[in-house]
Amino acid sequence: MRRIGILTSGGDAPGMNAAIRGVVRYANSLRLEVYGIQCGYDGMLKGDIIKMDNRSVSDIIHKGGTMLMTSRCPEFIDIKYRKKANAVLQAYGIESFIVIGGDGSLRGMRDFYNDFGTPCVGIPGTIDNDLAYTDYTLGFDTAVNTVLNAINNVRDTMTAHNRACIIEVMGRKCGDLAMHAGLAGGAEIILVPEMPIDVARIRKEIVYDKIKGKNSVIIILAEGVCSCASLKEQILAGDVDDIQIRTVKLGYIQRGGTPSMADRVLASKCAVRAVDLLVSPNCGGRVVGIKDNKIMDMDVDTALSIERKFDTNLYKIATTLGK
Ligand code: ADP
Ligand code: F6P
Repeated sequence: MRRIGILTSGGDAPGMNAAIRGVVRYANSLRLEVYGIQCGYDGMLKGDIIKMDNRSVSDIIHKGGTMLMTSRCPEFIDIKYRKKANAVLQAYGIESFIVIGGDGSLRGMRDFYNDFGTPCVGIPGTIDNDLAYTDYTLGFDTAVNTVLNAINNVRDTMTAHNRACIIEVMGRKCGDLAMHAGLAGGAEIILVPEMPIDVARIRKEIVYDKIKGKNSVIIILAEGVCSCASLKEQILAGDVDDIQIRTVKLGYIQRGGTPSMADRVLASKCAVRAVDLLVSPNCGGRVVGIKDNKIMDMDVDTALSIERKFDTNLYKIATTLGK
Protein backbone atom coordinates (compact mmCIF):
# COMPACT_ATOMS: atom_id res chain seq x y z
CA MET A 1 0.00 0.00 0.00
CA ARG A 2 1.34 3.44 -0.87
CA ARG A 3 2.07 5.90 1.89
CA ILE A 4 1.53 9.63 1.56
CA GLY A 5 2.40 12.40 4.01
CA ILE A 6 0.53 15.63 4.69
CA LEU A 7 1.57 18.77 6.55
CA THR A 8 0.42 22.34 7.14
CA SER A 9 3.06 25.09 7.27
CA GLY A 10 3.49 28.84 7.78
CA GLY A 11 0.57 30.97 8.96
CA ASP A 12 -2.54 28.88 9.63
CA ALA A 13 -5.67 29.68 7.63
CA PRO A 14 -9.34 28.72 7.98
CA GLY A 15 -9.99 25.83 5.60
CA MET A 16 -6.72 24.01 6.31
CA ASN A 17 -8.62 21.49 8.45
CA ALA A 18 -11.17 20.95 5.68
CA ALA A 19 -8.27 20.25 3.30
CA ILE A 20 -6.65 17.77 5.72
CA ARG A 21 -9.99 15.99 6.08
CA GLY A 22 -10.42 15.90 2.30
CA VAL A 23 -6.95 14.47 1.73
CA VAL A 24 -7.25 11.81 4.43
CA ARG A 25 -10.71 10.59 3.47
CA TYR A 26 -10.18 10.65 -0.28
CA ALA A 27 -6.78 8.95 0.02
CA ASN A 28 -8.27 6.28 2.27
CA SER A 29 -11.01 5.70 -0.29
CA LEU A 30 -8.19 4.92 -2.77
CA ARG A 31 -6.62 2.57 -0.21
CA LEU A 32 -3.60 4.81 0.41
CA GLU A 33 -2.05 5.16 3.86
CA VAL A 34 -1.89 8.73 5.16
CA TYR A 35 0.69 10.02 7.64
CA GLY A 36 0.22 13.42 9.27
CA ILE A 37 3.49 15.33 9.68
CA GLN A 38 2.94 17.62 12.66
CA CYS A 39 4.08 21.24 13.05
CA GLY A 40 5.03 21.79 9.40
CA TYR A 41 8.60 21.23 8.24
CA ASP A 42 9.68 21.14 11.87
CA GLY A 43 7.84 17.81 12.26
CA MET A 44 9.50 16.52 9.10
CA LEU A 45 12.89 17.21 10.68
CA LYS A 46 11.99 15.73 14.03
CA GLY A 47 9.92 12.75 12.88
CA ASP A 48 6.82 14.13 14.56
CA ILE A 49 4.55 11.94 12.44
CA ILE A 50 1.23 10.16 13.10
CA LYS A 51 -0.84 7.67 11.14
CA MET A 52 -4.23 9.05 10.16
CA ASP A 53 -7.54 7.40 9.35
CA ASN A 54 -11.03 8.67 8.64
CA ARG A 55 -11.77 9.07 12.35
CA SER A 56 -8.65 11.21 12.91
CA VAL A 57 -10.32 13.95 10.90
CA SER A 58 -13.83 13.80 12.40
CA ASP A 59 -15.29 17.04 13.67
CA ILE A 60 -12.70 19.38 12.13
CA ILE A 61 -14.27 20.67 8.89
CA HIS A 62 -15.83 23.62 10.74
CA LYS A 63 -12.74 24.58 12.74
CA GLY A 64 -10.13 27.24 12.02
CA GLY A 65 -6.44 26.66 12.77
CA THR A 66 -4.96 23.31 11.82
CA MET A 67 -5.27 20.00 13.68
CA LEU A 68 -1.79 19.06 12.42
CA MET A 69 -0.35 22.27 13.91
CA THR A 70 2.02 24.49 11.95
CA SER A 71 5.32 26.33 12.36
CA ARG A 72 7.82 28.61 10.75
CA CYS A 73 10.93 26.48 10.36
CA PRO A 74 13.86 28.63 9.13
CA GLU A 75 16.21 25.60 9.10
CA PHE A 76 14.33 24.15 6.14
CA ILE A 77 15.85 26.80 3.89
CA ASP A 78 19.21 25.07 4.43
CA ILE A 79 19.82 21.95 2.27
CA LYS A 80 21.56 20.29 5.22
CA TYR A 81 18.25 20.19 7.11
CA ARG A 82 16.22 19.20 4.05
CA LYS A 83 18.53 16.17 3.73
CA LYS A 84 17.70 15.29 7.30
CA ALA A 85 13.98 15.66 6.57
CA ASN A 86 14.35 13.41 3.52
CA ALA A 87 15.95 10.71 5.68
CA VAL A 88 13.00 10.95 8.09
CA LEU A 89 10.47 10.53 5.27
CA GLN A 90 12.38 7.50 3.99
CA ALA A 91 12.49 5.97 7.45
CA TYR A 92 8.69 6.22 7.57
CA GLY A 93 8.33 4.88 4.04
CA ILE A 94 6.54 8.07 2.96
CA GLU A 95 6.88 8.16 -0.83
CA SER A 96 5.08 11.41 -1.61
CA PHE A 97 3.48 14.26 0.30
CA ILE A 98 1.10 17.20 0.31
CA VAL A 99 1.91 20.64 1.72
CA ILE A 100 -0.85 23.07 2.69
CA GLY A 101 0.55 26.57 3.15
CA GLY A 102 1.47 29.92 1.68
CA ASP A 103 4.22 31.20 -0.57
CA GLY A 104 7.08 30.28 1.78
CA SER A 105 5.73 26.78 2.42
CA LEU A 106 5.35 26.07 -1.29
CA ARG A 107 8.89 27.37 -1.89
CA GLY A 108 10.10 24.92 0.72
CA MET A 109 8.25 22.12 -1.07
CA ARG A 110 9.72 23.16 -4.42
CA ASP A 111 13.24 23.13 -3.01
CA PHE A 112 12.66 19.69 -1.51
CA TYR A 113 11.35 18.39 -4.82
CA ASN A 114 14.32 19.84 -6.72
CA ASP A 115 16.70 18.22 -4.20
CA PHE A 116 15.25 14.72 -4.01
CA GLY A 117 12.58 14.35 -6.72
CA THR A 118 9.98 13.18 -4.20
CA PRO A 119 6.49 13.58 -5.74
CA CYS A 120 4.66 16.35 -3.89
CA VAL A 121 1.66 18.63 -4.31
CA GLY A 122 1.02 22.03 -2.72
CA ILE A 123 -2.41 23.33 -1.70
CA PRO A 124 -2.52 27.14 -1.27
CA GLY A 125 -3.45 28.02 2.30
CA THR A 126 -3.02 31.57 3.57
CA ILE A 127 -5.30 34.47 4.44
CA ASP A 128 -2.97 36.75 2.43
CA ASN A 129 -4.08 35.57 -1.06
CA ASP A 130 -0.54 36.35 -2.24
CA LEU A 131 0.05 33.43 -4.61
CA ALA A 132 -0.06 34.60 -8.23
CA TYR A 133 -0.91 31.27 -9.88
CA THR A 134 -4.29 30.90 -8.15
CA ASP A 135 -7.22 33.32 -7.91
CA TYR A 136 -7.87 32.37 -4.29
CA THR A 137 -6.09 30.71 -1.39
CA LEU A 138 -7.74 28.80 1.46
CA GLY A 139 -8.63 31.14 4.30
CA PHE A 140 -8.88 34.31 2.27
CA ASP A 141 -12.68 34.29 1.94
CA THR A 142 -13.15 33.62 5.66
CA ALA A 143 -10.66 36.34 6.63
CA VAL A 144 -12.39 38.87 4.36
CA ASN A 145 -15.71 38.08 6.07
CA THR A 146 -14.11 38.41 9.50
CA VAL A 147 -12.78 41.84 8.54
CA LEU A 148 -16.22 42.75 7.19
CA ASN A 149 -17.84 42.00 10.54
CA ALA A 150 -15.25 44.20 12.21
CA ILE A 151 -15.92 47.03 9.74
CA ASN A 152 -19.66 46.80 10.42
CA ASN A 153 -19.14 47.06 14.18
CA VAL A 154 -16.61 49.86 13.94
CA ARG A 155 -18.87 51.76 11.54
CA ASP A 156 -21.72 51.83 14.10
CA THR A 157 -19.68 53.52 16.78
CA MET A 158 -17.80 55.83 14.41
CA THR A 159 -21.12 57.05 13.01
CA ALA A 160 -22.48 57.67 16.49
CA HIS A 161 -19.51 59.95 17.23
CA ASN A 162 -18.86 61.36 13.77
CA ARG A 163 -15.31 59.97 13.73
CA ALA A 164 -12.82 58.49 11.32
CA CYS A 165 -11.23 55.12 12.01
CA ILE A 166 -8.17 53.43 10.55
CA ILE A 167 -8.62 49.65 10.53
CA GLU A 168 -5.33 47.82 9.99
CA VAL A 169 -5.60 44.40 8.38
CA MET A 170 -3.09 41.62 7.68
CA GLY A 171 -1.85 40.44 4.29
CA ARG A 172 1.91 40.85 4.47
CA LYS A 173 2.95 42.65 1.26
CA CYS A 174 -0.37 41.89 -0.46
CA GLY A 175 -3.33 44.29 -0.47
CA ASP A 176 -6.02 41.78 -1.49
CA LEU A 177 -7.50 41.33 1.98
CA ALA A 178 -7.71 45.10 2.48
CA MET A 179 -9.15 45.75 -0.97
CA HIS A 180 -11.84 43.05 -0.89
CA ALA A 181 -12.93 43.84 2.66
CA GLY A 182 -12.81 47.56 1.91
CA LEU A 183 -14.97 47.19 -1.19
CA ALA A 184 -17.52 44.90 0.45
CA GLY A 185 -17.54 46.96 3.65
CA GLY A 186 -18.04 50.29 1.92
CA ALA A 187 -14.79 51.81 3.18
CA GLU A 188 -14.18 55.43 2.19
CA ILE A 189 -10.42 54.97 1.83
CA ILE A 190 -8.45 51.79 1.05
CA LEU A 191 -4.67 51.79 1.35
CA VAL A 192 -2.63 48.91 -0.08
CA PRO A 193 1.10 48.44 -0.67
CA GLU A 194 0.59 48.01 -4.42
CA MET A 195 -0.70 51.58 -4.88
CA PRO A 196 0.99 54.91 -4.05
CA ILE A 197 -0.03 56.64 -0.81
CA ASP A 198 -0.46 60.39 -0.50
CA VAL A 199 -1.07 61.42 3.10
CA ALA A 200 -2.01 65.00 2.19
CA ARG A 201 -4.69 63.62 -0.12
CA ILE A 202 -6.01 61.26 2.56
CA ARG A 203 -6.26 64.20 4.95
CA LYS A 204 -8.21 66.20 2.37
CA GLU A 205 -10.50 63.25 1.65
CA ILE A 206 -11.40 62.90 5.32
CA VAL A 207 -12.25 66.60 5.55
CA TYR A 208 -14.14 66.50 2.24
CA ASP A 209 -16.14 63.44 3.34
CA LYS A 210 -17.36 65.45 6.31
CA ILE A 211 -18.32 68.38 4.11
CA LYS A 212 -20.22 65.97 1.84
CA GLY A 213 -22.27 64.92 4.83
CA LYS A 214 -20.64 61.62 5.71
CA ASN A 215 -20.76 61.08 9.44
CA SER A 216 -18.07 58.43 9.60
CA VAL A 217 -14.96 57.59 7.58
CA ILE A 218 -13.54 54.07 7.46
CA ILE A 219 -9.94 53.77 6.27
CA ILE A 220 -8.82 50.21 5.58
CA LEU A 221 -5.07 49.99 5.84
CA ALA A 222 -3.08 46.95 4.70
CA GLU A 223 -0.26 46.12 7.12
CA GLY A 224 2.18 46.17 4.18
CA VAL A 225 1.77 49.97 3.94
CA CYS A 226 2.54 50.97 7.54
CA SER A 227 1.00 50.59 10.99
CA CYS A 228 -2.29 52.28 11.89
CA ALA A 229 -0.49 54.23 14.63
CA SER A 230 2.02 55.58 12.14
CA LEU A 231 -0.66 56.56 9.62
CA LYS A 232 -2.69 58.35 12.29
CA GLU A 233 0.40 60.28 13.33
CA GLN A 234 1.10 61.28 9.73
CA ILE A 235 -2.47 62.44 9.14
CA LEU A 236 -2.61 64.44 12.35
CA ALA A 237 0.74 66.09 11.53
CA GLY A 238 -1.14 68.28 9.02
CA ASP A 239 -3.91 70.78 9.42
CA VAL A 240 -6.90 68.66 10.44
CA ASP A 241 -9.00 70.71 12.80
CA ASP A 242 -12.11 69.09 14.10
CA ILE A 243 -11.31 65.54 13.03
CA GLN A 244 -11.27 62.70 15.49
CA ILE A 245 -9.33 59.63 14.37
CA ARG A 246 -9.36 56.27 16.10
CA THR A 247 -7.37 53.15 15.19
CA VAL A 248 -8.03 49.39 15.33
CA LYS A 249 -5.44 46.74 14.54
CA LEU A 250 -7.42 43.58 13.89
CA GLY A 251 -4.45 41.20 14.29
CA TYR A 252 -4.92 37.47 14.80
CA ILE A 253 -8.73 37.74 14.95
CA GLN A 254 -8.44 37.59 11.15
CA ARG A 255 -6.63 34.24 11.13
CA GLY A 256 -9.02 32.23 13.29
CA GLY A 257 -12.68 31.36 13.13
CA THR A 258 -14.94 28.88 11.44
CA PRO A 259 -14.19 28.61 7.70
CA SER A 260 -16.75 29.93 5.23
CA MET A 261 -18.60 27.66 2.82
CA ALA A 262 -16.34 28.91 0.01
CA ASP A 263 -13.18 27.92 1.89
CA ARG A 264 -14.53 24.50 2.89
CA VAL A 265 -15.60 23.68 -0.66
CA LEU A 266 -12.35 24.98 -2.19
CA ALA A 267 -10.36 22.99 0.38
CA SER A 268 -12.23 19.79 -0.39
CA LYS A 269 -11.87 20.19 -4.16
CA CYS A 270 -8.15 21.00 -3.89
CA ALA A 271 -7.62 18.02 -1.58
CA VAL A 272 -9.14 15.58 -4.08
CA ARG A 273 -7.13 17.02 -7.00
CA ALA A 274 -3.94 16.87 -4.93
CA VAL A 275 -4.39 13.19 -4.10
CA ASP A 276 -5.30 12.35 -7.71
CA LEU A 277 -2.05 14.03 -8.80
CA LEU A 278 0.02 12.18 -6.21
CA VAL A 279 -1.19 8.79 -7.45
CA SER A 280 -0.71 9.71 -11.12
CA PRO A 281 2.43 8.19 -12.70
CA ASN A 282 4.28 11.44 -13.50
CA CYS A 283 3.25 13.69 -10.63
CA GLY A 284 6.53 15.54 -10.08
CA GLY A 285 6.28 18.71 -8.00
CA ARG A 286 2.94 20.42 -8.53
CA VAL A 287 0.53 22.87 -6.97
CA VAL A 288 -3.26 23.02 -7.16
CA GLY A 289 -5.47 26.09 -7.08
CA ILE A 290 -8.48 27.74 -8.67
CA LYS A 291 -8.47 29.84 -11.84
CA ASP A 292 -11.61 31.26 -13.48
CA ASN A 293 -13.70 29.13 -11.12
CA LYS A 294 -12.05 25.88 -12.17
CA ILE A 295 -9.73 23.72 -10.11
CA MET A 296 -6.34 23.63 -11.82
CA ASP A 297 -2.84 22.29 -11.27
CA MET A 298 0.56 23.44 -12.41
CA ASP A 299 4.24 22.65 -12.09
CA VAL A 300 5.46 24.21 -8.83
CA ASP A 301 8.49 25.92 -10.40
CA THR A 302 6.32 27.63 -12.99
CA ALA A 303 3.65 28.55 -10.46
CA LEU A 304 6.11 30.26 -8.13
CA SER A 305 7.77 32.19 -10.92
CA ILE A 306 4.55 33.93 -11.96
CA GLU A 307 4.54 37.57 -10.99
CA ARG A 308 1.59 38.61 -8.88
CA LYS A 309 -0.63 41.24 -10.51
CA PHE A 310 -2.72 43.48 -8.32
CA ASP A 311 -6.27 43.97 -9.61
CA THR A 312 -6.11 47.72 -10.23
CA ASN A 313 -9.55 47.72 -11.90
CA LEU A 314 -11.18 46.32 -8.79
CA TYR A 315 -9.21 48.80 -6.69
CA LYS A 316 -10.55 51.65 -8.82
CA ILE A 317 -14.10 50.38 -8.39
CA ALA A 318 -13.61 49.99 -4.62
CA THR A 319 -12.27 53.52 -4.18
CA THR A 320 -14.81 55.11 -6.54
CA LEU A 321 -17.79 53.50 -4.78
CA GLY A 322 -16.55 54.62 -1.37
CA LYS A 323 -16.90 58.30 -2.22
P1 ADP B 1 3.81 30.95 4.44
O1 ADP B 1 3.93 29.57 3.92
O2 ADP B 1 2.52 31.21 5.14
O3 ADP B 1 4.17 31.99 3.40
P2 ADP B 1 6.46 31.35 5.63
O4 ADP B 1 6.93 32.34 4.63
O5 ADP B 1 6.79 31.61 7.06
O6 ADP B 1 4.89 31.11 5.62
O7 ADP B 1 7.08 29.94 5.21
C1 ADP B 1 6.79 28.78 5.97
C2 ADP B 1 7.99 27.90 6.04
O8 ADP B 1 8.34 27.44 4.73
C3 ADP B 1 9.27 28.56 6.55
O9 ADP B 1 9.30 28.67 7.94
C4 ADP B 1 10.31 27.59 6.03
O10 ADP B 1 10.31 26.41 6.80
C5 ADP B 1 9.76 27.23 4.67
N1 ADP B 1 10.34 28.10 3.63
C6 ADP B 1 10.02 29.38 3.34
N2 ADP B 1 10.76 29.86 2.34
C7 ADP B 1 11.59 28.86 1.96
C8 ADP B 1 12.61 28.73 0.97
N3 ADP B 1 12.92 29.72 0.14
N4 ADP B 1 13.26 27.54 0.89
C9 ADP B 1 12.95 26.52 1.72
N5 ADP B 1 11.99 26.58 2.67
C10 ADP B 1 11.32 27.73 2.79
O1 F6P C 1 0.83 34.95 6.34
C1 F6P C 1 -0.26 35.07 7.21
C2 F6P C 1 -0.02 36.14 8.22
O2 F6P C 1 -1.13 36.19 9.10
C3 F6P C 1 0.27 37.53 7.65
O3 F6P C 1 -0.91 38.18 7.21
C4 F6P C 1 0.94 38.20 8.82
O4 F6P C 1 1.77 39.26 8.39
C5 F6P C 1 1.76 37.08 9.39
O5 F6P C 1 1.13 35.87 8.99
C6 F6P C 1 1.89 37.08 10.88
O6 F6P C 1 2.78 36.07 11.22
P1 F6P C 1 3.01 35.51 12.70
O7 F6P C 1 1.94 34.49 12.96
O8 F6P C 1 4.34 34.87 12.61
O9 F6P C 1 2.91 36.66 13.63
